[in-house]
Amino acid sequence: MAKDAHEDEPFSQKLRVPEALTFDDVLLRPKESRVEPDEADLTSRVSKNVELPVPVLSAAMDTVTEADMGIAMARNGGLGVIHRNLDVDEMTAHVERVKRADELIIRDVVTAQPEQTVEEVDEMMEREGVNGAPVVDEENRVLGIISGTDIRPYLEVGEQDRVSEAMTEEVITAPKGVTAREGLELMYEHKIERVPIVDEDDRLIGLVTMQGILQRREYDNAARDDDGRLIAGAAVGPFEVDRAVAADEAGADVLFIDCAHAHNLNVIDSAREIKQNVSADVVVGNIGTKEAAEDLVDFADGLKVGIGPGSICTTRVVSGSGMPQITAVSEVADVAQRHDVPVIADGGIRYSGDAIKAIAAGADAVMLGSYFAGTDEAPGRVVTMQGKKYKQYRGMGSVGAMQSGDGQRYLKDDDEDEEYVPEGVEAATPYKGPLAKELHQLVGGMQSGMGYVGAETIPEFKERSEFVRVSAAGQTESHAHDVLITDEAPNYSPDGN
Ligand code: XMP
Repeated sequence: MAKDAHEDEPFSQKLRVPEALTFDDVLLRPKESRVEPDEADLTSRVSKNVELPVPVLSAAMDTVTEADMGIAMARNGGLGVIHRNLDVDEMTAHVERVKRADELIIRDVVTAQPEQTVEEVDEMMEREGVNGAPVVDEENRVLGIISGTDIRPYLEVGEQDRVSEAMTEEVITAPKGVTAREGLELMYEHKIERVPIVDEDDRLIGLVTMQGILQRREYDNAARDDDGRLIAGAAVGPFEVDRAVAADEAGADVLFIDCAHAHNLNVIDSAREIKQNVSADVVVGNIGTKEAAEDLVDFADGLKVGIGPGSICTTRVVSGSGMPQITAVSEVADVAQRHDVPVIADGGIRYSGDAIKAIAAGADAVMLGSYFAGTDEAPGRVVTMQGKKYKQYRGMGSVGAMQSGDGQRYLKDDDEDEEYVPEGVEAATPYKGPLAKELHQLVGGMQSGMGYVGAETIPEFKERSEFVRVSAAGQTESHAHDVLITDEAPNYSPDGN
């Protein structure tokens, strides 16, 4: 380990300390602009190989991100990071659900065999929730297609008749490189609703449906991989090589080494090993200093910043350690920029203004927990207390979360007899309705910030933006003041909820 710079200095020297700032300490200096906010393009990278139309991530927390949140985030251009307080199998199932949600080509096709009876296939389609199925032989060659309309009673098909007698034999198929437009054209031309995808030997490899194509069109700003599938993120513990490999095989695009203090050298060794065993990008966090960034940039595909800024975090008061977030982001970004490694600002973001300030400080993307925990897509049910609706939101280092997981984020031992020393609290957060509404406000506010600075793109914004320091009086002036708020604004409440 390197010798500490202050080793031979008197203790009193330690009190000549640098200042560290956070969101409320700074504001963006308004600048000459011709940029209308809705023209501002937020596209940015979250890791070396993954770009998002909306560089916003939902936190890897058990009250924030499972498959429903992952799907909604990606459909709206962002990224959900599936938490790891789940068995590896459960977690990979969530990752797979996200990857499959809007797939153009369905790979897991429900098929029928020619010798089955119409009754059997009818029951199977009902059970699987599909309206039709390609009929295949033992070698998976497409022989026909059977749909609800083929087996309706008025067609005089008996329940005990064979599928081979009831199916449509003239099947329109397409090769595996088919695009959504070509698929739709085929369907319109032949008045059909599904097209089996086959290889050179006519073997079934997938299915394209009209419903699937129309659903994809609804989300034209979605975050997708090269095959058109939604982008998925997954958190893995710093020593969980097996979970990392499983999430990678399940199709996760970005893995997040999820640790409260990633400048732990054992964590770094293990993260390096994980990186060697997966094909997905590996983001490492959390860190808050330039020294930590320097120790990670040679292998990490992204760095996640945040030591204690989160709404449910008590790390700073419990451990006496941490870094105010704007300073932490800028320190890490100084190093990351030189090595072309993206930076994610994680935690403490209450308003859209905080999110765009984090980007001005050097982040490429932002991660939020409390902002999304009250939405429909977050796990958990809505409860009513004193006439107001809430959802549960808890820190992953809280007693409750550590009891239901392994507490490893906070490097706690698995010893059940020992009482936890939590670094987070369990709380309730106001219920907010659908995620899309919340994200719309967040994105709109961030674009507005870009408009005030006169930047059309994120790289331009990072270069052009400047901060001014805000006094305590300036902070008071920034919030609604000297009035009694009568109607709730969709993007503001004095306490950040
Ligand atoms: P926000 O402010 O968006 O923060 O709610 C979410 C981030 O907080 C981190 N996190 C924790 N930090 N103790 C901590 O010190 C905890 O129990 C805890 N749980 C989550 C995490 O980085 C998350 O993304």
